[in-house]
This record gives sequence, structure tokens and C-alpha cells, in this order.
Amino acid sequence: MAWLTDWLSLLARWFHLIVGAGWIGTSFYFNWLNNNVRPVDDDETGELAGALWSVHGGAFYQVRKIKGAPRALPETLHWFKWEAYLTWISGVSLLLLVYWMQAGTSMVPPGSDLAPWAAASIGVGSLALGWVVYDLLCRSPLSRHPRVFAALGFSLLCAAAWGLSELLSPRAAYIHVGAMVGTMMALNVFFVIIPGQKKMVDALLAGREPEIDAGAAGSLRSLHNNYFTLPVLFIMVSNHFPFTYGHTWGWAVLAGIALLGSIARHAFNLMDRGQDARWILPVAALGMMGLAFVSHGPRPSVEGAEVPGFAEVGPIIEARCVGCHAETPTFEGIAAPPLGLLLETPEQIRQAAPKIQAQAVDTQTMPLGNVTGMTDQERAVLGAWIAGGAPL
Ligand code: HEC
Repeated sequence: MAWLTDWLSLLARWFHLIVGAGWIGTSFYFNWLNNNVRPVDDDETGELAGALWSVHGGAFYQVRKIKGAPRALPETLHWFKWEAYLTWISGVSLLLLVYWMQAGTSMVPPGSDLAPWAAASIGVGSLALGWVVYDLLCRSPLSRHPRVFAALGFSLLCAAAWGLSELLSPRAAYIHVGAMVGTMMALNVFFVIIPGQKKMVDALLAGREPEIDAGAAGSLRSLHNNYFTLPVLFIMVSNHFPFTYGHTWGWAVLAGIALLGSIARHAFNLMDRGQDARWILPVAALGMMGLAFVSHGPRPSVEGAEVPGFAEVGPIIEARCVGCHAETPTFEGIAAPPLGLLLETPEQIRQAAPKIQAQAVDTQTMPLGNVTGMTDQERAVLGAWIAGGAPL
């Protein structure tokens, strides 16, 4: 049934991207709106906080922002919540298909005797625990001190990244940190932002003045979501780049990315409010380059050392990789060569050398969960062969 899981996870990923783009798109758009509406001169009603004109797709649009709540509720009021819910639901389906149901190969780190069900439970538990801790912090007086809150939140994120990478395979640790923060974002919408807006609408319908408190809790969570967006997206895509999660200090690379992502977001927020914060962007870019250098910097050269011949390399690949990376894989549960990568002929192996370097030498991502029991000595042989120009 591997083909079915593969297809389902492809469809879930597709759907996840579509609804995720919808969610982030609306959130970016409303942020932009809020920062760009300007006071109106001829406002006879006195109820406008601002307005703006825009042109898009061959039509002109005028948007007006109301001070507080409207006096009467319009017949149709559009809500934005399904984007968030569906992004979370499809994300959890992906976790289930790709990680929790295949915890033995995708979550248990090489050499660990953690049971697959225990690894999956750690994954599920991390999402729940993350939310409980975050929600308590938001309800505590600490949430009124943005700097302290940010510093504490960032330290807890580092702790989660470190803890998960001690327990789970590096790739699973990364995606679960991303999913943990993504869960906070979606549950913020579900438990705080939308109920707060419902309360305001209910008050209006009952002819009462809406309480500002309900809205204030929602604004705090919206602000957090705004800062979470860029780091979460970066964590999600770095799952396809083994030099991030596969690094010995993978959790620190994640922390660095999260920090730089939020700093970049902060710069945009300040600029939207009309402050000159452009200088932050090159600083963040330099930070990113520094991170790239540290995480992917020059490796010890093997100059002078003897380059192993293909006669030594061939049997290693044959024993450790070809069970999966073959035209007709023999490994149970693998129906077709993963990502189309074949490692059966010397030419194919030579061609894949840079990828092999990334997945089996620089990191221990491959063999998957080290199910075929590759040794460090064998990785060193592959590394020396590739460094020596991968001679056949
Ligand atoms: C148990 C099956 C299995 C074994 C054994 C295995 N792989 Fe993989 N390999 C996979 C799967 C599954 C993927 C796809 C992972 C993903 O979707 O990111 C993959 C992906 C890869 C990729 C990424 C290809 C790309 O285009 O990005 C490389 C490179 C790779 N494997 C190399 C190896 C090497 C080298 C070995 C042996 C040392 C090996 N694999 C052993 C299952 C396996």
C-alpha cells in the first residue's frame, strides 16, 4: 500500500500549500491594509478610521476602515477562519501519513531503541504541550511585557528544538518544531481570535457596546501569529534541505533561522508603520550568510590521503542503498525508487555523488533511519571517494 500513502501524502501536501497560501495571503493583506489606510477628509458619518484606493486585475477598489464597531451589522459579514483551520488539518494529516504512521523509519533516530509508537507519541505530545505552555504564558502578566515575552518564548523554542532533536531523528525534530508553532497559530485563531470577534458581533446584535477586552486578546495573538509566519515557513521548507536539520547542531541552526525570520518580520512591521527600519534587512541577510557559512562551511580537506577506488565504494552502496534505490526495490514498503533516485550502476552512483555527500556523508539522513546499518567507516569511505573526484 506504499503507493497509496505516497499519493495521499502528495495530495495532502498540495492541499496544505493551497490553503496555507490562502491563510498567509489574507493575513499579509490585512496587515498591509491596516498599515495603509489614511484618514478621510470628507467623512460626514464620523465613523471612519481611514480608507484607501487600490487597483488590481483591471478593477478599482475602495476599502474603508471603521472606528471600533459599525453602528449596525451589515447583512453579509465575511469571516476568515477556514484558511487557518484547513491548513492545520491538512498539516496534521501530513504528519500522520509521513511521520506518525511510519515512525519506525521516519522518526526513530539511527541507533536508538525508542519504540515507533513512543516516537509518534512524543510527536503528538509535543504539539499539545507546546500549545498549553504558550497559552498559559499568553494569559499570564508576562504577556504585557513584549521584550520579556519574546526572550522567554525564544528560549522555550530553543529548548523544544534541542529536546526533540535529542529524542527524534533530526528531520522529524525539525518538522515537529514547525508544526508546534503552526499549531499555536491555528489554535490562536480557533480559541481566541474568532471567539473574541464573535463576542463583539453578539454584543452588537444585542445592541450593547462591544467590550474592548475581547478584541485586545485577539490582537495580541494576531501579532504573535504575524511574527511566527516567516520562521514557520522556513522550518517547513528546510525539511527538504538536509544541511539544515542534518547538521550536528541542527537545533541551533533552527533557532538561528527562527530568530532571523522574526527579525525580518519585525523590520517589515516597523516599515509599514512608517519607521525607517530598512537597515535591519541587510543585517538579517548578513546573519543568514553567517549561519550558512557556519552550518555549511569548508570541511576538513583530505588532501594527500589515498582516494578509495570504486571497487571499495560499489559494494557499500549495493549493501546499504540499493534495497530502496533500484528500478525494482526489494525493501518492504518501498514500491518505486524514492524520488526516482537509482544507485544501481557505477555511472548512476557517480552522477548522484553530490546528493550522496549531502545525505549519507555530511549528514546521516540516508539510509532512512539507518535501517540497513551503515557504519561511520563506510560513510568516511564514500566521503573520501567523492572528495577525490569520484573516480570510476
Ligand atoms: C529504506 C529505504 C532507503 C534506503 C535503504 C536508502 N534510502 Fe535514500 N531515500 C529513501 C527515501 C524514502 C527517500 C525520499 C525521502 C524524501 O522524500 O525526502 C530517499 C532519498 C534519498 C536521496 C535524495 C534524493 C533527491 O533527489 O533529493 C538521496 C541522495 C538518497 N536517498 C541517498 C541514499 C543513499 C546514498 C543510501 C545508502 C547509503 C540510501 N539513500 C539508502 C529511502 C531509502
